[in-house]
Amino acid sequence: MNILVTGGAGYIGSHTIIELINAGHRVLVVDNLVNSAQESLLRVERITGKKVPFYQIDIRDREALSSVLDKYELDCCIHFAGLKAVGESVSLPWEYYENNINGTLVLTDVLRKHGCKNFIFSSSATVYGDPTKVPIKEEQPKGICTNPYGWTKWMIEQILTDMHKADLSWNVVLLRYFNPIGAHPTGLIGDNPNGVPNNLMPYITQVAVGKLERLHVFGNDYDTPDGTGVRDYIHVVDLAKGHVAALKAIASNCGLAVYNLGTGHGYSVLEIVQAFEEVNGVKVPYQIDPRRPGDIATCYSASGKALKELGWKAELDIRDMVRDSWNWQKKNPNGYEK
Ligand code: NAD
Ligand code: UD1
Repeated sequence: MNILVTGGAGYIGSHTIIELINAGHRVLVVDNLVNSAQESLLRVERITGKKVPFYQIDIRDREALSSVLDKYELDCCIHFAGLKAVGESVSLPWEYYENNINGTLVLTDVLRKHGCKNFIFSSSATVYGDPTKVPIKEEQPKGICTNPYGWTKWMIEQILTDMHKADLSWNVVLLRYFNPIGAHPTGLIGDNPNGVPNNLMPYITQVAVGKLERLHVFGNDYDTPDGTGVRDYIHVVDLAKGHVAALKAIASNCGLAVYNLGTGHGYSVLEIVQAFEEVNGVKVPYQIDPRRPGDIATCYSASGKALKELGWKAELDIRDMVRDSWNWQKKNPNGYEK
Protein backbone atom coordinates (compact mmCIF):
# COMPACT_ATOMS: atom_id res chain seq x y z
CA MET A 1 0.00 0.00 0.00
CA ASN A 2 0.96 3.70 -0.32
CA ILE A 3 0.88 5.04 3.20
CA LEU A 4 1.01 8.56 4.56
CA VAL A 5 2.73 8.55 7.95
CA THR A 6 2.15 11.73 9.95
CA GLY A 7 4.61 12.28 12.79
CA GLY A 8 6.91 9.73 11.16
CA ALA A 9 10.12 11.31 12.49
CA GLY A 10 9.03 10.60 16.07
CA TYR A 11 9.70 7.65 18.35
CA ILE A 12 6.91 5.25 17.33
CA GLY A 13 6.54 6.56 13.77
CA SER A 14 10.19 5.96 12.88
CA HIS A 15 10.07 2.37 14.15
CA THR A 16 6.80 1.77 12.31
CA ILE A 17 8.20 3.02 8.99
CA ILE A 18 10.89 0.32 9.16
CA GLU A 19 8.30 -2.42 9.64
CA LEU A 20 6.10 -0.99 6.89
CA ILE A 21 9.02 -0.97 4.46
CA ASN A 22 10.04 -4.50 5.55
CA ALA A 23 6.50 -5.63 4.77
CA GLY A 24 6.71 -4.17 1.26
CA HIS A 25 4.67 -0.98 1.73
CA ARG A 26 5.63 2.45 0.39
CA VAL A 27 5.61 5.36 2.80
CA LEU A 28 5.66 9.10 2.72
CA VAL A 29 6.25 11.12 5.86
CA VAL A 30 5.00 14.50 7.01
CA ASP A 31 6.24 15.95 10.28
CA ASN A 32 6.85 19.51 11.49
CA LEU A 33 9.74 18.26 13.69
CA VAL A 34 8.31 20.03 16.76
CA ASN A 35 9.36 17.05 18.87
CA SER A 36 11.78 15.18 16.64
CA ALA A 37 14.78 15.43 14.35
CA GLN A 38 15.11 14.55 10.68
CA GLU A 39 18.17 12.53 11.70
CA SER A 40 15.79 9.74 12.79
CA LEU A 41 14.61 9.35 9.20
CA LEU A 42 18.16 9.35 7.86
CA ARG A 43 18.84 6.48 10.23
CA VAL A 44 15.70 4.69 9.10
CA GLU A 45 17.11 4.97 5.58
CA ARG A 46 20.39 3.44 6.80
CA ILE A 47 18.54 0.54 8.41
CA THR A 48 16.21 -0.19 5.49
CA GLY A 49 18.42 0.85 2.59
CA LYS A 50 15.36 2.68 1.17
CA LYS A 51 14.76 6.39 0.61
CA VAL A 52 11.97 7.78 2.78
CA PRO A 53 10.18 10.73 1.13
CA PHE A 54 9.87 13.43 3.80
CA TYR A 55 8.00 16.75 3.90
CA GLN A 56 8.53 19.13 6.80
CA ILE A 57 4.93 20.23 7.12
CA ASP A 58 2.53 21.02 9.91
CA ILE A 59 -0.60 18.90 9.45
CA ARG A 60 -2.68 21.99 10.32
CA ASP A 61 -1.33 23.67 7.17
CA ARG A 62 -4.12 22.72 4.79
CA GLU A 63 -2.54 24.14 1.62
CA ALA A 64 0.88 22.60 2.17
CA LEU A 65 -0.61 19.22 3.04
CA SER A 66 -2.95 19.34 0.08
CA SER A 67 -0.20 20.12 -2.39
CA VAL A 68 1.87 17.18 -1.13
CA LEU A 69 -1.06 14.81 -1.37
CA ASP A 70 -1.77 16.01 -4.94
CA LYS A 71 1.40 14.12 -5.90
CA TYR A 72 0.43 10.74 -4.42
CA GLU A 73 -2.26 8.08 -4.73
CA LEU A 74 -2.72 7.13 -1.10
CA ASP A 75 -4.23 3.91 0.23
CA CYS A 76 -4.05 4.71 3.94
CA CYS A 77 -2.88 7.21 6.54
CA ILE A 78 -1.25 6.25 9.84
CA HIS A 79 -1.61 9.25 12.11
CA PHE A 80 1.05 9.63 14.80
CA ALA A 81 1.46 13.42 14.70
CA GLY A 82 0.51 15.02 17.98
CA LEU A 83 1.82 16.53 21.18
CA LYS A 84 2.20 13.93 23.91
CA ALA A 85 3.67 15.35 27.12
CA VAL A 86 1.09 14.85 29.86
CA GLY A 87 2.48 17.48 32.28
CA GLU A 88 2.87 20.07 29.53
CA SER A 89 -0.72 19.47 28.42
CA VAL A 90 -1.89 20.53 31.89
CA SER A 91 -0.12 23.88 31.58
CA LEU A 92 -0.81 24.36 27.84
CA PRO A 93 -4.29 22.87 27.34
CA TRP A 94 -5.28 25.18 24.46
CA GLU A 95 -2.11 24.32 22.55
CA TYR A 96 -2.74 20.59 23.05
CA TYR A 97 -6.40 20.70 22.01
CA GLU A 98 -5.58 22.92 19.05
CA ASN A 99 -2.63 20.91 17.76
CA ASN A 100 -4.03 17.43 18.30
CA ILE A 101 -7.70 17.96 17.50
CA ASN A 102 -7.47 20.66 14.86
CA GLY A 103 -4.53 18.79 13.30
CA THR A 104 -6.65 15.64 12.99
CA LEU A 105 -9.63 17.58 11.59
CA VAL A 106 -7.56 19.28 8.89
CA LEU A 107 -5.75 16.04 8.06
CA THR A 108 -8.91 13.94 7.68
CA ASP A 109 -10.57 16.66 5.58
CA VAL A 110 -7.61 16.90 3.20
CA LEU A 111 -7.49 13.10 3.03
CA ARG A 112 -11.15 12.70 2.13
CA LYS A 113 -10.81 15.39 -0.52
CA HIS A 114 -7.99 13.29 -1.95
CA GLY A 115 -10.14 10.15 -1.93
CA CYS A 116 -8.37 8.44 0.98
CA LYS A 117 -10.69 7.28 3.75
CA ASN A 118 -8.53 4.64 5.39
CA PHE A 119 -7.18 5.83 8.71
CA ILE A 120 -5.19 4.35 11.59
CA PHE A 121 -5.01 6.45 14.74
CA SER A 122 -2.46 6.39 17.59
CA SER A 123 -4.67 6.31 20.64
CA SER A 124 -3.68 5.39 24.16
CA ALA A 125 -4.70 3.24 27.10
CA THR A 126 -5.17 6.57 28.82
CA VAL A 127 -8.70 6.70 27.31
CA TYR A 128 -9.74 3.98 29.79
CA GLY A 129 -9.02 6.37 32.69
CA ASP A 130 -8.72 4.45 35.97
CA PRO A 131 -9.87 1.06 34.68
CA THR A 132 -12.69 -0.63 36.54
CA LYS A 133 -11.20 -4.05 35.71
CA VAL A 134 -7.86 -5.48 34.54
CA PRO A 135 -6.90 -6.90 32.12
CA ILE A 136 -8.63 -4.16 30.13
CA LYS A 137 -10.75 -5.32 27.20
CA GLU A 138 -11.55 -3.04 24.29
CA GLU A 139 -15.27 -3.08 25.08
CA GLN A 140 -14.68 -1.66 28.55
CA PRO A 141 -16.17 1.84 28.45
CA LYS A 142 -13.82 4.75 28.09
CA GLY A 143 -13.19 6.50 31.40
CA ILE A 144 -12.41 9.91 32.83
CA CYS A 145 -9.04 11.21 31.68
CA THR A 146 -6.83 13.00 34.16
CA ASN A 147 -5.21 15.50 31.78
CA PRO A 148 -5.82 17.43 28.51
CA TYR A 149 -3.47 15.14 26.55
CA GLY A 150 -5.64 12.15 27.46
CA TRP A 151 -8.81 14.04 26.56
CA THR A 152 -7.42 14.83 23.09
CA LYS A 153 -7.09 11.07 22.48
CA TRP A 154 -10.56 10.44 23.90
CA MET A 155 -12.12 13.20 21.77
CA ILE A 156 -10.31 12.29 18.56
CA GLU A 157 -11.55 8.70 18.97
CA GLN A 158 -15.08 10.11 19.24
CA ILE A 159 -14.66 12.38 16.21
CA LEU A 160 -13.37 9.51 14.07
CA THR A 161 -16.15 7.22 15.31
CA ASP A 162 -18.80 9.80 14.37
CA MET A 163 -17.20 10.39 10.95
CA HIS A 164 -17.33 6.66 10.29
CA LYS A 165 -20.98 6.45 11.40
CA ALA A 166 -21.97 9.27 9.05
CA ASP A 167 -19.96 7.95 6.12
CA LEU A 168 -19.46 4.19 6.16
CA SER A 169 -16.82 4.39 3.45
CA TRP A 170 -14.33 5.47 6.16
CA ASN A 171 -12.30 2.59 7.57
CA VAL A 172 -10.97 3.69 10.94
CA VAL A 173 -8.69 1.66 13.21
CA LEU A 174 -8.18 3.02 16.72
CA LEU A 175 -5.01 1.54 18.23
CA ARG A 176 -4.78 1.95 21.99
CA TYR A 177 -1.12 1.69 22.92
CA PHE A 178 -0.09 0.61 26.38
CA ASN A 179 3.45 1.67 27.46
CA PRO A 180 5.94 1.55 24.58
CA ILE A 181 9.61 1.23 25.56
CA GLY A 182 12.70 -0.29 23.93
CA ALA A 183 14.34 0.70 20.68
CA HIS A 184 15.37 -0.75 17.35
CA PRO A 185 17.94 -3.54 17.97
CA THR A 186 20.54 -1.67 15.89
CA GLY A 187 20.52 1.10 18.53
CA LEU A 188 20.27 3.64 15.71
CA ILE A 189 16.82 4.95 16.59
CA GLY A 190 14.99 5.21 19.90
CA ASP A 191 13.06 7.43 22.29
CA ASN A 192 14.52 10.94 22.36
CA PRO A 193 12.59 13.03 24.88
CA ASN A 194 13.22 16.76 25.24
CA GLY A 195 14.56 17.82 28.63
CA VAL A 196 13.97 15.73 31.73
CA PRO A 197 11.96 12.64 30.76
CA ASN A 198 8.46 12.17 32.18
CA ASN A 199 8.19 8.50 31.35
CA LEU A 200 9.81 5.74 33.35
CA MET A 201 12.16 4.05 30.86
CA PRO A 202 13.93 7.14 29.46
CA TYR A 203 14.35 8.33 33.04
CA ILE A 204 15.97 5.01 33.99
CA THR A 205 18.32 5.03 31.00
CA GLN A 206 19.39 8.61 31.74
CA VAL A 207 20.16 7.64 35.34
CA ALA A 208 22.10 4.62 34.09
CA VAL A 209 24.14 6.74 31.66
CA GLY A 210 24.91 9.27 34.43
CA LYS A 211 22.86 12.22 33.15
CA LEU A 212 20.47 12.05 36.09
CA GLU A 213 21.40 11.19 39.64
CA ARG A 214 18.69 8.78 40.68
CA LEU A 215 15.23 7.55 39.76
CA HIS A 216 12.31 8.91 41.77
CA VAL A 217 9.82 6.10 42.24
CA PHE A 218 6.40 7.72 42.45
CA GLY A 219 4.77 5.94 45.40
CA ASN A 220 5.19 2.51 46.99
CA ASP A 221 1.82 2.39 48.72
CA TYR A 222 -0.38 1.34 45.79
CA ASP A 223 -2.49 -1.78 46.05
CA THR A 224 -0.01 -3.80 43.95
CA PRO A 225 2.34 -6.68 44.89
CA ASP A 226 5.29 -4.40 45.79
CA GLY A 227 3.34 -1.14 46.20
CA THR A 228 4.68 0.51 43.02
CA GLY A 229 2.65 1.20 39.87
CA VAL A 230 2.02 -1.66 37.44
CA ARG A 231 1.99 -1.09 33.66
CA ASP A 232 1.89 -3.08 30.44
CA TYR A 233 5.25 -2.28 28.81
CA ILE A 234 5.49 -3.20 25.15
CA HIS A 235 8.56 -3.24 22.91
CA VAL A 236 8.29 -0.45 20.33
CA VAL A 237 9.22 -2.89 17.54
CA ASP A 238 6.26 -5.10 18.48
CA LEU A 239 4.07 -2.02 18.60
CA ALA A 240 5.33 -0.99 15.16
CA LYS A 241 4.42 -4.43 13.79
CA GLY A 242 0.93 -3.94 15.23
CA HIS A 243 0.43 -1.17 12.67
CA VAL A 244 1.40 -3.45 9.80
CA ALA A 245 -1.16 -5.95 11.14
CA ALA A 246 -3.79 -3.20 11.40
CA LEU A 247 -3.46 -2.68 7.65
CA LYS A 248 -5.07 -6.10 7.28
CA ALA A 249 -8.19 -4.71 8.93
CA ILE A 250 -8.11 -1.75 6.57
CA ALA A 251 -7.65 -4.05 3.55
CA SER A 252 -10.70 -6.06 4.58
CA ASN A 253 -12.89 -2.94 4.91
CA CYS A 254 -13.19 -3.21 8.67
CA GLY A 255 -15.32 -0.12 9.14
CA LEU A 256 -14.59 0.98 12.68
CA ALA A 257 -12.24 -1.24 14.70
CA VAL A 258 -10.56 -0.78 18.08
CA TYR A 259 -7.53 -2.75 19.28
CA ASN A 260 -5.37 -2.71 22.36
CA LEU A 261 -1.68 -2.99 21.58
CA GLY A 262 -0.11 -4.38 24.73
CA THR A 263 1.48 -7.60 25.93
CA GLY A 264 -1.19 -8.54 28.46
CA HIS A 265 1.38 -8.56 31.30
CA GLY A 266 1.92 -5.96 34.00
CA TYR A 267 5.27 -5.11 35.58
CA SER A 268 5.86 -2.88 38.58
CA VAL A 269 8.33 0.01 38.62
CA LEU A 270 10.68 -1.98 40.86
CA GLU A 271 10.47 -5.05 38.61
CA ILE A 272 11.51 -2.87 35.68
CA VAL A 273 14.44 -1.44 37.64
CA GLN A 274 15.49 -4.95 38.65
CA ALA A 275 15.25 -6.33 35.11
CA PHE A 276 17.23 -3.36 33.78
CA GLU A 277 20.01 -3.87 36.32
CA GLU A 278 20.16 -7.63 35.83
CA VAL A 279 20.16 -7.69 32.04
CA ASN A 280 22.48 -4.73 31.53
CA GLY A 281 24.75 -5.08 34.54
CA VAL A 282 24.25 -1.38 35.42
CA LYS A 283 23.03 0.06 38.72
CA VAL A 284 19.99 2.32 38.84
CA PRO A 285 19.95 4.16 42.18
CA TYR A 286 16.45 5.17 43.24
CA GLN A 287 14.47 6.74 46.06
CA ILE A 288 10.83 6.43 46.95
CA ASP A 289 8.86 9.66 46.50
CA PRO A 290 5.17 10.52 46.92
CA ARG A 291 2.67 9.41 44.28
CA ARG A 292 2.50 11.47 41.06
CA PRO A 293 -0.88 13.20 40.79
CA GLY A 294 -3.10 11.57 38.18
CA ASP A 295 -1.30 8.20 38.29
CA ILE A 296 -3.24 4.98 38.64
CA ALA A 297 -2.19 1.78 40.42
CA THR A 298 -2.50 -0.84 37.71
CA CYS A 299 -3.06 -0.85 33.96
CA TYR A 300 -2.58 -3.77 31.60
CA SER A 301 -4.30 -4.99 28.49
CA ALA A 302 -6.31 -7.95 27.40
CA SER A 303 -4.52 -8.53 24.12
CA GLY A 304 -6.62 -11.36 22.67
CA LYS A 305 -8.65 -9.30 20.20
CA ALA A 306 -5.65 -8.19 18.12
CA LEU A 307 -4.42 -11.80 18.08
CA LYS A 308 -7.76 -13.21 17.01
CA GLU A 309 -8.60 -10.63 14.37
CA LEU A 310 -5.21 -9.40 13.15
CA GLY A 311 -2.97 -12.35 13.97
CA TRP A 312 -0.75 -9.99 15.95
CA LYS A 313 0.80 -10.46 19.34
CA ALA A 314 3.82 -9.02 21.08
CA GLU A 315 6.82 -11.34 20.71
CA LEU A 316 9.51 -9.55 22.70
CA ASP A 317 9.78 -9.77 26.46
CA ILE A 318 10.85 -7.47 29.24
CA ARG A 319 14.50 -8.52 28.91
CA ASP A 320 14.51 -7.51 25.24
CA MET A 321 12.90 -4.19 26.15
CA VAL A 322 15.40 -3.19 28.83
CA ARG A 323 18.35 -4.42 26.72
CA ASP A 324 17.33 -2.41 23.66
CA SER A 325 16.46 0.71 25.66
CA TRP A 326 19.94 0.66 27.16
CA ASN A 327 21.64 -0.13 23.84
CA TRP A 328 20.05 3.00 22.30
CA GLN A 329 20.87 5.27 25.25
CA LYS A 330 24.44 4.01 25.58
CA LYS A 331 25.17 4.54 21.89
CA ASN A 332 23.37 7.90 21.79
CA PRO A 333 23.81 9.56 25.19
CA ASN A 334 22.52 12.85 23.72
CA GLY A 335 19.85 11.35 21.49
CA TYR A 336 20.08 12.52 17.88
CA GLU A 337 22.36 15.45 18.74
CA LYS A 338 25.84 14.82 17.44
P1 NAD B 1 6.77 11.72 19.23
O1 NAD B 1 6.62 13.07 19.84
O2 NAD B 1 8.12 11.10 19.22
O3 NAD B 1 6.19 11.73 17.74
C1 NAD B 1 5.15 12.58 17.35
C2 NAD B 1 5.60 13.33 16.11
O4 NAD B 1 4.55 14.20 15.67
C3 NAD B 1 6.83 14.20 16.35
O5 NAD B 1 7.82 13.85 15.40
C4 NAD B 1 6.33 15.62 16.15
O6 NAD B 1 7.33 16.45 15.61
C5 NAD B 1 5.14 15.41 15.24
N1 NAD B 1 4.10 16.45 15.30
C6 NAD B 1 3.45 16.93 16.39
N2 NAD B 1 2.54 17.84 16.03
C7 NAD B 1 2.59 17.94 14.68
C8 NAD B 1 1.90 18.73 13.72
N3 NAD B 1 0.95 19.63 14.07
N4 NAD B 1 2.21 18.59 12.41
C9 NAD B 1 3.17 17.70 12.02
N5 NAD B 1 3.86 16.94 12.89
C10 NAD B 1 3.57 17.06 14.20
O7 NAD B 1 5.73 10.75 19.97
P2 NAD B 1 5.58 9.16 19.90
O8 NAD B 1 5.94 8.63 21.22
O9 NAD B 1 6.23 8.65 18.68
O10 NAD B 1 4.00 9.06 19.77
C11 NAD B 1 3.36 8.95 18.51
C12 NAD B 1 1.85 9.00 18.73
O11 NAD B 1 1.49 7.95 19.60
C13 NAD B 1 1.37 10.28 19.39
O12 NAD B 1 0.12 10.64 18.84
C14 NAD B 1 1.22 9.89 20.84
O13 NAD B 1 0.27 10.69 21.51
C15 NAD B 1 0.75 8.46 20.71
N6 NAD B 1 1.03 7.65 21.90
C16 NAD B 1 2.31 7.60 22.39
C17 NAD B 1 2.57 6.86 23.53
C18 NAD B 1 3.97 6.81 24.10
O14 NAD B 1 4.13 6.38 25.25
N7 NAD B 1 5.01 7.19 23.39
C19 NAD B 1 1.54 6.16 24.16
C20 NAD B 1 0.24 6.22 23.63
C21 NAD B 1 0.01 6.97 22.49
C1 UD1 C 1 1.96 8.16 31.09
C2 UD1 C 1 0.81 9.11 30.96
C3 UD1 C 1 -0.20 8.57 29.97
C4 UD1 C 1 0.48 8.27 28.63
C5 UD1 C 1 1.64 7.30 28.88
C6 UD1 C 1 2.41 6.99 27.64
C7 UD1 C 1 0.71 10.24 33.14
C8 UD1 C 1 -0.12 10.47 34.36
N1 UD1 C 1 0.20 9.34 32.25
O1 UD1 C 1 1.45 6.93 31.56
O2 UD1 C 1 -1.25 9.51 29.76
O3 UD1 C 1 -0.44 7.70 27.73
O4 UD1 C 1 2.54 7.90 29.84
O5 UD1 C 1 3.10 8.12 27.19
O6 UD1 C 1 1.75 10.84 32.96
N2 UD1 C 1 7.28 6.37 37.25
C9 UD1 C 1 8.16 6.58 38.31
N3 UD1 C 1 9.16 7.50 38.15
C10 UD1 C 1 9.32 8.22 37.00
C11 UD1 C 1 8.42 8.01 35.93
C12 UD1 C 1 7.40 7.08 36.10
O7 UD1 C 1 8.04 5.95 39.35
O8 UD1 C 1 10.25 9.06 36.92
C13 UD1 C 1 6.22 5.36 37.40
C14 UD1 C 1 4.81 5.88 37.28
O9 UD1 C 1 4.31 6.29 38.52
C15 UD1 C 1 4.08 4.68 36.68
C16 UD1 C 1 5.15 3.99 35.83
O10 UD1 C 1 6.39 4.44 36.33
O11 UD1 C 1 3.68 3.80 37.69
C17 UD1 C 1 5.05 4.33 34.34
O12 UD1 C 1 5.03 5.74 34.18
P1 UD1 C 1 5.07 6.45 32.75
O13 UD1 C 1 6.18 5.88 31.95
O14 UD1 C 1 5.05 7.92 32.96
O15 UD1 C 1 3.72 5.96 32.06
P2 UD1 C 1 2.20 6.06 32.58
O16 UD1 C 1 2.09 6.72 33.89
O17 UD1 C 1 1.61 4.70 32.46
